[in-house]
Formats: sequence, C-alpha cells, structure tokens
Amino acid sequence: MKIKNVVVIGSGTMGSGIAAHLCNANIPVTLLDLKTEISKKARERIYNSRPPLLIDKSNINNIKVGNISDDFDVVKNADWIVEAVVERIDIKHQIYEKIFKVRKSGAIVSSNTSSIPIKVLSEHLTDLEKKDFCITHFFNPVRYMGLLEIVKNENNDLNKINSLKEFCEKELGKGAIICNDTPGFLGNRVGVYAMQVAMTEAFKMKLSVEEADAVFGRPMGIPKTGVFGLYDLIGIDLMADVLKSFIKELPKTDQFHEVAKEIPLVKKLIETGYTGRKGKGGFYRVNRSGTTKVMEAINLETGNYFPIKKIDVKSDKVDLKKLINRDDKYGRYAWSVLSKIIKYASSLVPGITKEFNDIDEAMRLGFNWTKGPFEMLEEIGVENFFNRIEEFKGNNFLENLSKTKNENFYGERQKYTNIETLGKVKKTATNIDGNDSAKIYRFNDYNIVEFTTKANALDYESMDALKKATDKPLIIINESMQFSAGVNLTYTMQFADNKDFKSIEKFIKYFQETCKHLKYSKHPVVSAPSGLTLGGGFEVMVQSNFVAAHTNIVIGLVETIVGLIPAGGGCKEMLARWLSTDEAKSDPNYAPLKVFDIIGYGKTATSPVEAEPLKYLRPSDKKIMNRNSLFEVSKKILFDNKDFKVPDEHKFRLPGKAVINEMNKILEKLYNDKVILDHGLEVAKELAYVLSGGDTTIDKTLTEDDLFKLELEAFMKLIETEKTQERIKYTLSTGKPLIN
Ligand code: NAI
Repeated sequence: MKIKNVVVIGSGTMGSGIAAHLCNANIPVTLLDLKTEISKKARERIYNSRPPLLIDKSNINNIKVGNISDDFDVVKNADWIVEAVVERIDIKHQIYEKIFKVRKSGAIVSSNTSSIPIKVLSEHLTDLEKKDFCITHFFNPVRYMGLLEIVKNENNDLNKINSLKEFCEKELGKGAIICNDTPGFLGNRVGVYAMQVAMTEAFKMKLSVEEADAVFGRPMGIPKTGVFGLYDLIGIDLMADVLKSFIKELPKTDQFHEVAKEIPLVKKLIETGYTGRKGKGGFYRVNRSGTTKVMEAINLETGNYFPIKKIDVKSDKVDLKKLINRDDKYGRYAWSVLSKIIKYASSLVPGITKEFNDIDEAMRLGFNWTKGPFEMLEEIGVENFFNRIEEFKGNNFLENLSKTKNENFYGERQKYTNIETLGKVKKTATNIDGNDSAKIYRFNDYNIVEFTTKANALDYESMDALKKATDKPLIIINESMQFSAGVNLTYTMQFADNKDFKSIEKFIKYFQETCKHLKYSKHPVVSAPSGLTLGGGFEVMVQSNFVAAHTNIVIGLVETIVGLIPAGGGCKEMLARWLSTDEAKSDPNYAPLKVFDIIGYGKTATSPVEAEPLKYLRPSDKKIMNRNSLFEVSKKILFDNKDFKVPDEHKFRLPGKAVINEMNKILEKLYNDKVILDHGLEVAKELAYVLSGGDTTIDKTLTEDDLFKLELEAFMKLIETEKTQERIKYTLSTGKPLIN
C-alpha cells in the first residue's frame, strides 16, 4: 500500500515532531489535538524550533491543523493514522474507537507509545482491526534521531508492516527496527538501564557529577552530555515516570529493579522544581547573580551546588580496553558500568530480540552511542571480559560465549536493513592503511576514507590519509555524527603556543595541496557529509568532485567567528561558484561581495534547502533523507562516472581595488554601528583582500594557486595575532565565540 496522506493525533512534543518530519518527506499531513489552538501552537513551535525540525521552513503550511471534534473527517482519507496523545491508556483506547469507526479499510493505525504493550493497546480491537494496528515508536527530536521501533501484534498483516517499514526507511530516512512487545522495546530498555547504572554507580563509588559525565561520555563513545547531563536534558521528573513504568511492567527477577530504586536526592530535586533544563536546574544549574552566569553542579552527597570543575580524563579516543584497565576511580567506574550494561543487554537475548545486533544498532540510532554493548564486548575482547567478570549465571548468551570464547562472535552489522550501509561494508572491506586520524578501506575497486578524531577535526594525518587514498576512486564518509567540525584548532594552537608558525604554515599548505589533489586526481572523489560539515570539513567536501549529502547537515565556513579566514580553498571555491552566476557576468563586484557577506558573517545552513541559495551545495549534489543510504548513493555515483574526466582548472578574474573600496564602505558602517569591533575589522579586511584578488585587476587572470597563496598569507597574518589566538582559545574552552 502507498502512504500518501497521514493524520497525526496529539500535537505535543512527539506528534508535532512526527508531523514536521512527514512534511520534510513531502507527505501531506494533518495534526489534530483536543482544540485547534493547541495544534496551531504546535505548528508555531515547529516553525521556531532549534535545531529546526523542518528541512524547509517555508513548507510549514503543508502541515494542516485541526481538532478531533470538528475535523475528524480527515481520518477517513488517511492511509496512516499516528496516535501520539498522552501516555494514558483510557485516552488512547477512546481515540482508537473513534479512528476505527471512520478510517478507510486497510489504513494503518499506529501508536507512538513508549511504554504501553501492544497487547494492552489493542485489547478492545477486533482481529480485523488488529491486522492494521502496530506501534511506531519514534525518538525525540524526530528529524534528528535515526531510530524507529516498530512493534507488531500477532494478527498483523506482515506485508503491510513490511511496507510501512520500507516507507519509514525510504521516505522518512529512519532506521526502522522491528521489535518484540516487551517493556521499553530495545532502545529504552537498554538505554534507560545504562543511564540508571551510570547514575547509581556514581553515587556508590562517590564520583562527582562532572567526573561521571566525563567518563560515561566521549571516552566510552557516548555523547558528551554523559548521564547527569542527559538526565537534565530529558527531565528528571519524566525519567522518574519512565522508571515507574518499568518497575510496574518488568518481572521482579529483572536486574532492572536493582538500578531503579528511588534515590532521595533525585526525589528532592523533583519536589523542589529542579527537574532539569526545563526547570530551575537539575544536576547542573546556571547560577545567575547580577550579570554573571556561573555553571554549577550538585554535590551528590550534600545536595549543595558548586561551580563546575572541568575533568580531564586524558582520553582523546575511545579505547575501552585502556579505559577499563586504568588503575584509578575512573577506570573502576568505567568497568563497573560497562560490565553491568553488557551483562544486562546480553541477558535480554533472545527475550526482547533474537538479534543482539539489533540492540547495538538501536543504541546507535536512538542514543547516539558509537558502539552498542555487544560491540563494546567485542572491543574489550571475549577472553579479557571473562577473565574479569565474576557472575553471569542464568545468562544464556554469556554462558554460551564463555564456553566457545569466540572472539569473532559478532558477525554482521545492521541486519535490520537491506541497505548496503557503511557499517556493513566496513566489516568486509580491507583496512589497507590509516593513522591516528583516519582509516583507509579498500572495497571492490575503490577506497573509503573514514575520519576518526573527535568531531572528526582535521590535522596533518587526516590529509595524509586522503592523499594516499586517491590512488583509486574515493568515497569520504563516516559513521560518527559529524562529517567534520573543521581543522583541529587544538592541534594548531599547540604550534602557536610554541611560536612555531612555520609548522602551521606547513600544515595549511599541505591541506591546500591535498584538497587540490582531491579535485584534480585522475580518479573521482565523492564526499558524503552528514552532521557538522564546517570550515576545513566543508573545504574537503567542496573540493571533492561529487557530493552525496544527508538532509541533516550543518554546513558552512565559520572561520571568521574565531578570527580567521578559510585557507584550505574555501574562499577560492565560493568565489568560483558565485563567479559562474549570470549576475557575476554583468557585475564584476557581484561575486566577491556575495562571498564577503557569506564568509564574513560565518553563515551556516542547517539543511540542503538552506545550503543551496548560499551555494554551499549545488543543485546537482545528491540530498538524501536516510543516512544509511549515503554509502549506496556514493557508490552509485562512482559507478555512473566510470568515464570520469578530470575537470579543467578554474581561472579567476577579480576586480582587485575596485571592490575593496566597496567592501571598506560596508565595513566602515558596520564598525561605526558597533556591529564589528577592532579585531573583527582586521579579520574582515584580510578577507576582503583575498576575495578581491589582492593587487589584481579585472584584466588579469588568477589561478587557483594564486588564490591559495592569498588565503595562506591572510590566514598566517591572522593566526599570528594575539587576539585571534585568544578567540580560538576561548572557543576551544567554552564552545562559544568570543565577540571582538
Ligand atoms: P505531550 O504531553 O507533549 O503531548 C500530548 C498531546 O496529546 C497534547 O498536545 C495533548 O493536548 C494531546 N491530547 C491529549 N488527549 C487528547 C485527545 N483525546 N485527543 C487528541 N489529543 C489529545 O506528549 P508527548 O511527549 O508528545 O508524548 C506523546 C506520546 O509519545 C506518548 O505516548 C509518549 O509516551 C510517547 N513518546 C514520548 C517521547 C518523548 O520524548 N516525549 C518519546 C517517544 C514516545
């Protein structure tokens, strides 16, 4: 069956997120609530959401709104009706009764419940109605979270469930995993357990909030919000409700109960309105006294707040073996938490799913972990794990594994989808080369480069890997969240601190050389960006021959924000793109001024729809809803371009001084209006010099190398200023820009 028209009932957090995402897929959708004012408000929330739930905000009116009394007739025409009302079984039952009275024959009806079993949801339905009823459990925020859990009942028409799964994969871009009807399904059952273990062990082992989050975070391949930060984000009161529901649903023998006991401090936080970010604060809070803001964390023993202490666990990379072997409280905490998560997750196989692999993938897609518990076990090593673990009686999975001691127990990845994903391909490809910053795989007759640093920040070694990999057609793609947040500024600042500017110059030159090589090597290069594609990351992408971009992309040249200008070809490529417009043909100042505006303000786009008008992406670049499909699409691009011809080098005609005068006028106004300050002016002047072509005239032709040279000179001038260094350091330590 084709899904061409959807009704979502309940326009709260989830209903509005689901409606927005259907709108992203260009599916006509109506959002109903008790009153039209509520669904209208929801539409406003969608419009103003940050990060934006809509790929193209101008489509907002494609989401129709109404109420369940006057507008219920829309249900008659819907192919799929999604119920996302409050988690109350009586209300849900009433809604189903209403829906099934009017829905057209065969239309799918699903619930977004996070905790009510399908058996209970469907208890009043006839067998015929049950055929079309299932749970579709989306994660919040719907546009950004990859996981969709689909729960069947025993009467389902399997073809229909499969076509719904396919629709959600292809049109909505979700990783759709079919699960059994067990409490919390896969993601929340393991994810909430993991959060509870991380929290209770922190109390037991007397770690501070900041220490626990520093360990149960990046060093484990878990988002840096950690456990207490995540608690605050979700809402401490909401988590308490989730726990109550698990306690009610799970058998007394389930190990979940051990970590779900009420904690007096947590109870007190809820009672006093400290429910997390949405409340007065939570485990963390911002203490505002006068104009100053101090970030504080709670002391888990006393309940008093203190200014947060930055914890450096000195672990740049995820290395679980090293982490659990540390002979300090961090190592002991890591092992205690990890081993319990592995034990719990494995105790659930085959009860919650017969594929342990599905649990891992649910943790990636629903909680943004880089590895799920079973892959963590694989990384720690089977023998190593059993040498350390004490008790696992009754856990069939571990008992079997302890007998076979099979280090290669893992097998395939991403079994839930037929798509040829990067995750699957990495399992069979040969890892031919690599270094600390990137891996090179050989697959069929082409290479794959995957960056491996924090946020995939780029350094000399990342460039080395790219350069080496151009001996074959190349796909630059990665599994982690970000394509690349840009050049590694920590690495750059180490040289600056030692006044070793020669090494910075050498690095930038190598960066330029590599990007040029990507563009003009004899084999085609495809970049497949997703997530942050900023600064240097953008420069790698823009100098690849082809692009296959995920629709969740944050893309732009943001160097001016730290007092620098793009020097890896960003200025050059943006000029090239804007110079080829019709407007530029009749006005030589048009392209430099446009690029001056875009780079000067460090503009970013949060979707391909926003990126195209800025020319960060071209109409010919592929835009893909399902991140899992990036690899397949990139592969097809290589296949379709077997007769790839190296492009001709770009030539530039730029107006030099003539446009600098214009730019200076703009800057003067901004400076007088105090939009930019002294250092901002200095940075903008360097940018103006590069974009105008320096001391050139419109009759002179500049080469790409000439522009690289201008970028390098300006970059070096700026990085040597104390102000730029101060701005970079500020951004590195706070994650925020320093306005100057
Ligand atoms: P919410 O409280 O934000 O929104 C619920 C909406 O339902 C409200 O707008 C309310 O006015 C409306 N509503 C109540 N009774 C109604 C009725 N009879 N007819 C029409 N609308 C009615 O709730 P939220 O968070 O969006 O949750 C909705 C469902 O999604 C729940 O089943 C919840 O368990 C589930 N869920 C929630 C997640 C989350 O992170 N918030 C994640 C995944 C699932």
